Amino acid sequence: MQTTLAIIKPDAADKEDEIAWRIQREGFSVKMRRRITLTKEQAGEFYQEHVGKPFYAELVKFMTSGPIVVLALQKFHAIEEWRKLIGPTNSHKARETAPESLRALYGTDNTRNACHGSDSPKSADREVLFFFGGVTSPSVPLISPSDAG
Ligand code: TYD
Ligand code: MG
Repeated sequence: MQTTLAIIKPDAADKEDEIAWRIQREGFSVKMRRRITLTKEQAGEFYQEHVGKPFYAELVKFMTSGPIVVLALQKFHAIEEWRKLIGPTNSHKARETAPESLRALYGTDNTRNACHGSDSPKSADREVLFFFGGVTSPSVPLISPSDAG
């Protein structure tokens, strides 16, 4: 069994129930879940590999535009399987090449693309720790009442 970090991004957070059904149907189990709104600093740190890229500022702005749902998902080959289920980065492309993928169904374009998935075991470890590191996590404060749900 493998664990991956999934995010339902601000543009799809209100579709969590539908997406959760799909997650279950595709054989993933949800190990951990939290609903939070990221600060600019948190989103910037989460996407640190993209610092300096032309889309970085827009990405951080989008990811802080509303609540997100963060999930630790478990399945055999979870990392690859979740990336396959969400589809290509660009939702326009997803609709052409993977019409049943989550980015095709719930995303809009190359930035507003509904879901995140870790891209490697190393990323998954870092990202799960980032959001679910518990008392040792320096990055994300405890869930605030306004985000609970
Ligand atoms: P990336 O890690 O390349 O894609 P993925 O999420 O599929 O691993 O990029 C991270 C996010 O940055 C991506 O989900 C959406 C955003 N992004 C843009 O806004 N514009 C772009 O041109 C790219 C490549 C990504
Ligand atoms: Mg990526």
